[in-house]
Amino acid sequence: MRFSLRGRDISNGVAENTVSLDVDSVARSVSAIEAHEGGRSALNRPELIAAKLRLHRKLIDEINLAQLDRMSRAEIRPTVLGLLEANERVPLNTRELGLFVDEVIDELTGLGPLEPLLKDPTISDILINTHESVYVERGGVLEPAAVRFKDEAHVLRIVNKIVAAVGRRVDESSPMVDARLQDGSRINAAIRPVAVDGPLVSIRKFAKQAFDLTRLVENATLKQPMAALLREAVKGRLSMMVSGGTGSGKTTLLNALSRFISNRERIITIEDAAELQLQQPHVGRLETRPPNLEGKGEIRQRELVKNALRMRPDRILIGEVRGEEAFDMLNAMNTGHEGSLTTIHANSARDAIARLEQMVAMAGLNMSEHAVRAHIASAIRIIVQMQRLHDGQRKITSIHEITGLEGSVIQMQELYRFVRTGADQAGAIKGEFRATGLRPSFLEALVLNGANPDEINLDPGRPL
Ligand SMILES: Nc1ncnc2c1ncn2[C@@H]1O[C@H](COP(=O)(O)OP(=O)(O)OP(=O)(O)O)[C@@H](O)[C@H]1O
Ligand SMILES: [Mg+2]
Repeated sequence: MRFSLRGRDISNGVAENTVSLDVDSVARSVSAIEAHEGGRSALNRPELIAAKLRLHRKLIDEINLAQLDRMSRAEIRPTVLGLLEANERVPLNTRELGLFVDEVIDELTGLGPLEPLLKDPTISDILINTHESVYVERGGVLEPAAVRFKDEAHVLRIVNKIVAAVGRRVDESSPMVDARLQDGSRINAAIRPVAVDGPLVSIRKFAKQAFDLTRLVENATLKQPMAALLREAVKGRLSMMVSGGTGSGKTTLLNALSRFISNRERIITIEDAAELQLQQPHVGRLETRPPNLEGKGEIRQRELVKNALRMRPDRILIGEVRGEEAFDMLNAMNTGHEGSLTTIHANSARDAIARLEQMVAMAGLNMSEHAVRAHIASAIRIIVQMQRLHDGQRKITSIHEITGLEGSVIQMQELYRFVRTGADQAGAIKGEFRATGLRPSFLEALVLNGANPDEINLDPGRPL
């Protein structure tokens, strides 16, 4: 598809002598949209994004990328305009053209082909599988993305640009790295030799519009009575663990739950990459640090948990418990920091407990199995299990209460569960949430604390 910039009347928003049908339609849609939107938003038309991508490919093929970093925008602009004139005929007026070129330059100088994906609010994850293939996740479903890197070096350049901003680096001697983008998005990169076919980059975009519990009810992640129970449990300072697989929505739920912590409480958060967005005024955020290039200076979650205890917290929020810090976390929960919250990577409530036991063992304290279990049973009250279903939906598949220890077995009872009933024609999973009919032993305490028992529907005969 070839275009040119010849037409004089481009400036009024209508292209002249357009050579192919879809260009006509772009012109029509752009001017139609511009009529009531105007400005930059009109440039987000998929057709124009496609033109931008084509241009971008051309540019990365023809421009010396290493040189680019040393050039100013004013120096890059003529090259971009020249290539644009030679290769594309975009139906834009002068002002739009200016914006368009600006965006192309952003994409060249900033995070390259990642820029449009980072800007697209419908994309939640970006997954680069070598420079030749990029996937994105939209609405819980993966799809290939129409962006491309010039070569492996191009991917590496951009990854290093990102991680350099937080004082890290990725190369053959340390081929894996975690970092956070300026906007809060989380990135992991693995390169050769561990990534056999070339760089693998995974970006979990920062959700600008954080989900609150109401939105999670609206999108059927859970039902209102379950939300009421969880809300009252947070207010009533019951310690809770959100369990689930990768990307099942654990951090999102933890964020949503954290809103019910009182403004009067002092909260310390501990994370590998700060993702939590607490709304309270009294929050201290701690983040781990990987070792530096000499292998020194690492700060692990365990040290941060210990340190947090010296900071007079009312509650501690650990983004994800994954190792030896589990012991210190349970200690905190058992010694006056009730209502602490965390997430754990596990496939069921039972599995979550088994994993927690293993993590405590990693602290190397030689505790008996019984002692570890007693510790867990008295520290944690509720385990919320999340799952990402095959069709992309996230569900709270169960809520369990830990009721105590009998012999050396941790006792649990399930309060709510999600039951699958089938799938519709398009493959969307159908199902319903049910109360099991069991009464949580903490219900009285929550009611004394102001909870309305009618709102927390525990009756299996009454639909949630
Ligand atoms: N209940 C939900 N409904 C729809 N989308 C959701 C829901 N929960 C999370 N998401 C989206 O899914 C993605 C993953 O969410 P989140 O980071 O909370 O998962 P996670 O379980 O913490 O993942 P990880 O294992 O990588 O830490 C995000 O883009 C988020 O916006
Ligand atoms: Mg998470």
